[in-house]
Amino acid sequence: MAPHRRENAHRFYNVSAVRVATLDIVLIFQFGAAIIIALFVAYNSFHYVLFLLVTQPKDASKIGHQLNQFEQRQLVEWTPQPNDFLKHDDEKRTYDDVFGTYRDEQANYSTCVFPRAAFTCPYEAEYVLLKPKDGMRLLDLGCGSGAAAEYLASRRNIEIVCVTNSSVQADICRRKFAKLGGRGQVIVTDFDSLDLPSENFDAIYALESIGYTKDLDAWLARCWRMLKPGGRLLIRSPGSLDHCRRKEDYLSVTAFFENWRYNFVGANLLVYKMRRLGFDPIRYRRLPFWAWGVTWNFIQHLLLWKYRLKMRTFVELERIIWRTSKVFVFGNPYNTVLATKPETASRSHQTLAFCEVVGGVVEIDSVPLSGRVQEALRRIEAR
Ligand SMILES: C[S@@+](CC[C@H](N)C(=O)[O-])C[C@H]1O[C@@H](n2cnc3c(N)ncnc32)[C@H](O)[C@@H]1O
Repeated sequence: MAPHRRENAHRFYNVSAVRVATLDIVLIFQFGAAIIIALFVAYNSFHYVLFLLVTQPKDASKIGHQLNQFEQRQLVEWTPQPNDFLKHDDEKRTYDDVFGTYRDEQANYSTCVFPRAAFTCPYEAEYVLLKPKDGMRLLDLGCGSGAAAEYLASRRNIEIVCVTNSSVQADICRRKFAKLGGRGQVIVTDFDSLDLPSENFDAIYALESIGYTKDLDAWLARCWRMLKPGGRLLIRSPGSLDHCRRKEDYLSVTAFFENWRYNFVGANLLVYKMRRLGFDPIRYRRLPFWAWGVTWNFIQHLLLWKYRLKMRTFVELERIIWRTSKVFVFGNPYNTVLATKPETASRSHQTLAFCEVVGGVVEIDSVPLSGRVQEALRRIEAR
């Protein structure tokens, strides 16, 4: 081959090689970008599926007819005591000691709000479930930093009363509610001694706080009493024992409870108690831990709690998962329960509802005393 031809061919190959290399880089780049976009879309779609499941809870007529032995034991052995007040880990730090230092005023305190995907509001699911309308009155039991209340009140012209046992949280709420023109109020008290008028609220909600009650029956009965007929009660709470089958699993979870006095009140247990009060319909949704655990909101909490707070509870959680049946732990649900007080709520349904302890005083309306009421009276007299 003539030298100039060889030179041309060589230049041609060099140019082609550069082109191929450039093309390769572009392709790799495009491929990488496609993977990132696909992951982003998949992760967000996953959150939307969770959102849809939570906002369309199932009819609860098939659950809550009986409690298994572990649920029964839990009610006796795990009920928080008055001296557990604000206990949040084994170092006996208060809620404010633990959380005050790192949560900014906008942040919520609960591990599970849906959806936490891009372009959505964290409390959209609660908004869909509670259906607040202008002029309604809502009650938030265990309100944290008031994030949910602020969101709901920003969407509708409603009044919200928030209850917390933390004055630090109450100050945060008050700062937030300043712009609501008197529509947001905060009460600092133990919700177990809350004494508000009957049939006063269109909706009551408790997001990851019901497990702190020292008297679940009285807590639910109080909600029933404070709700107007047709009113809604929304509860979100992690964990439950309705599918616990082994003593070892129950004991493992007890270790968690020792560090953090939160009682895992599951859907089965709640439906069981709500039905007896007369709530109807009751709807629920259980999301397994594996699904809830990979949501962005949970991952954020996990990192914060474990690495910044170094909370023993979360260090223990890993050991619990290791020791316990994986089926039990990963299937353990995050519960959403939505119950309605019927429009026609009759007084005959209110046996338990009319007997509740308010700061040591029993409120009883003029209904014949049932066995349960008498039993409650005996309990109070014994105190
Ligand atoms: C896990 S946080 C959830 C806060 C809020 N609902 C949220 O979603 O961000 C639990 C809340 O319940 C409150 N709490 C715990 N025990 C309480 C009690 N006995 N009376 C009133 N509030 C209580 C805590 O102070 C805290 O605000």
